[in-house]
Amino acid sequence: MNVLLIGSGGREHALAWKLMQSDDCDTLYASPGNPGIEADGGQCVSIDVTDHDAVVTFAKTNNCELVVIGPEDPLADGLGDAVGEAGLLCFGPGAKGARIESDKAYAKELMQHVSIPTAEARIFTDLEAAKTYVLSRDHGVAVKAAGLAKGKGVTVCPEPYQAVKVLEDMMNARIFGEAGETVLVEQMLTGQEATVLALVDGRNIYPMEPLQDHKPIGEGDTGANTGGMGAYSPVPIIDGQMMSHIEEEILVPIVDAMRRDFGRYEGVLYAGLMFTPAGPKVIEFNCRFGDPECQPLMMRLKSDLLKLMLATAEHNLDDVEMEFDARPAVCVVMSSGGYPGPYEKGKEITGIESADAIEGVKVFHAGTAMKNGKLVTNGGRVLGVTALGESIADAQERAYGAVTEVQWDGAYWRNDIADKALGES
Ligand code: AMP
Ligand code: GLY
Repeated sequence: MNVLLIGSGGREHALAWKLMQSDDCDTLYASPGNPGIEADGGQCVSIDVTDHDAVVTFAKTNNCELVVIGPEDPLADGLGDAVGEAGLLCFGPGAKGARIESDKAYAKELMQHVSIPTAEARIFTDLEAAKTYVLSRDHGVAVKAAGLAKGKGVTVCPEPYQAVKVLEDMMNARIFGEAGETVLVEQMLTGQEATVLALVDGRNIYPMEPLQDHKPIGEGDTGANTGGMGAYSPVPIIDGQMMSHIEEEILVPIVDAMRRDFGRYEGVLYAGLMFTPAGPKVIEFNCRFGDPECQPLMMRLKSDLLKLMLATAEHNLDDVEMEFDARPAVCVVMSSGGYPGPYEKGKEITGIESADAIEGVKVFHAGTAMKNGKLVTNGGRVLGVTALGESIADAQERAYGAVTEVQWDGAYWRNDIADKALGES
């Protein structure tokens, strides 16, 4: 069958690469895709994804039986509903399901309703009330825009007074537009973070191997938050017993709560967790694969991704088996100098072929473009250099060995991805 994949990032390159390994995948179309997807044999096409009829028409005309929606924006915009209503299979929830990510106030209320462990929070639409509240706190807070803000809508304030300026920026200066009209003020939690992704077909929940992301730009988790500067899997802090606990206390209750609230959720559910002294607590739910978490996850996935996605969309996840490579994987994100602030684009990238030639290494494209026959940078996060290894240390060494093969003017990366798993930071 043919497949239409929506999105253009490193996550989508990893999904495309894995989908194209399936014997059942004839042509993979990606809109807009990226040069890495194209180089691996995918066909990049340009469809306006906000025009749902255009997406459906393309899928039908090109015999795409399955549409896979990578990013949150088209999911929140209801593209999944339009695809389903047109009689096509869709991997990714409808707009109601996507609210678990696109409306943090809704997600928090749903979690509170079914007693899922999460940071205590208050929801505000009034700036003065929010300021009075933070100034009455005697512990740090996390201020969150309720809507979608490209991963930048959260500011952690160890001192409550620091939150006043953040609230003014969000609710008055509207730096995130409508996304900051409603704001959550959460209790600040401390502990290591990890991501658990699970396939959900509306009835069955199939958790995948856990991962750890690295959100801040600087080594030692310092500086501004980014979309994610690297990820690895598995995560030593999550053993089998902890995974069962997460499934029983977090995944099952939220999927049940969503089913009661609006019906089926079909796709992947992302749980961002913090391992506090009182146990794992939910930091956020997302309605899609994580980026860059998806890259090492796809490297470790041994099963046919197309079959797994079809089983999810057709509500028969209980009929399939999902197998992962026991070998760990590490992904180091290479970004444009200046990111997550302003950065220049259009720098020529060299060395990807030599990096890819290292055993166990795959370089996933994120912000790249072809210009006059040359590969150039075209975004903040440019590449996800990913490696499988016999151990986390081995995978880390291979990934960094590959990073040094790749060059462009101003390339930046963190040198401590996966150190936490080795007890080095
Ligand atoms: P999010 O966009 O919700 O994933 O938040 C971005 C980052 O902010 C998370 O990965 C955490 O590092 C941090 N964060 C979010 N909520 C809290 C909280 N309640 N306490 C401490 N840190 C938080
Ligand atoms: N890497 C974090 C996210 O995808 O939300």
